[in-house]
Amino acid sequence: MSIIADDSDFEKIPKDKKNPIIKPDAVEFDRNFENCIRPKTFDTYIGQTALKETLKITIKAAKKREKPLDHLLFYGPPGLGKTTLAGVIAQETGVDIKITSAPALERPRDIIGILMSLQGGEILFIDEIHRLNKVAEEILYPAMEDFYLDMTTGKSQTVKTLRVPLPKFTLIGATTKAGELSGPLRDRFGIIHRLEFYTVDELAQVIKRTAGILDIEIDEEGAKAIASRSRGTPRIANRLVKRVSDYALVKYDGKITRDIANKSLDILKIDEYGLDTTDRSLLRLIIEKYDGGPVGIETIAAAIGEDVRTIEDVCEPFLLQAGLLQRTPRGRKVSPATYRHLGYKTKQQTTQQSLF
Ligand code: ADE
Repeated sequence: MSIIADDSDFEKIPKDKKNPIIKPDAVEFDRNFENCIRPKTFDTYIGQTALKETLKITIKAAKKREKPLDHLLFYGPPGLGKTTLAGVIAQETGVDIKITSAPALERPRDIIGILMSLQGGEILFIDEIHRLNKVAEEILYPAMEDFYLDMTTGKSQTVKTLRVPLPKFTLIGATTKAGELSGPLRDRFGIIHRLEFYTVDELAQVIKRTAGILDIEIDEEGAKAIASRSRGTPRIANRLVKRVSDYALVKYDGKITRDIANKSLDILKIDEYGLDTTDRSLLRLIIEKYDGGPVGIETIAAAIGEDVRTIEDVCEPFLLQAGLLQRTPRGRKVSPATYRHLGYKTKQQTTQQSLF
């Protein structure tokens, strides 16, 4: 079995012949790093315990029926392991997986090409599926439901529709924005699951596993120190362990302890909650310029020089979950906990002080 996006497969293909399904780009280095530390089985995949148990049953049932898995939709903030989980499912089911993302399926021929390249039982993984355009969605409906494609040939009066059968495949869609998926597309997934943020203990396990693969020495306290500043997200934990390891190697003997992790993360300006400078400037702006909010997302984006999508997809999910930000119909607001965390007096404290 081979996962098409696997590092080793990638290396075997000459550079100019790399599979067009996976477009090498500026994040190729990151992706290669992620691929080499990605767990391939349920046993090595840490966290998402309830979801893993459900998926194991789904896979066993599909094997007993000798049928492909139902189409699956994973949603949740970025970096929680949606792609990794799709790879694990393929491995555990014993089928191949083709990995792509909605922005790469711009023209009808992109989606038709990939659907026609599938083998029976294979998994097609579409990341950011909420960004699929209408035409691609329309092509996907009969493919998902009844495994065929309707293709038209000829022009105006001579136009003919050709029905092309497809092998039975499983679509795994992933999205950070389940709410932006069209109703008809969402309804065609048999199984819909949300991925949850990881606990500090789970992230510490992820960090120790990654450190083991990368030959980085780390103790339990060091792993916990990095985990607690990783915003519940394995992708962040894995990046931080590498940064901290660089620091440990240059300044000390290479081993990551709690003190070294904390010093290094302070230098990286990542605070005890895992907030970075962008998060803090977003929250400070709401406090200092808008008296705690509410304020519109476009105004925030313009003021801190980030785009709206980055704020919504990358910064906000964790800030919302940590209770440091709230979404209201009139815009974003911070909470008393935000004031305390950033060292401001809360509105209540300020009012009380002026009364005395
Ligand atoms: N690396 C990234 N996500 C992981 C996970 N869930 N388990 C183990 N290692 C990981």
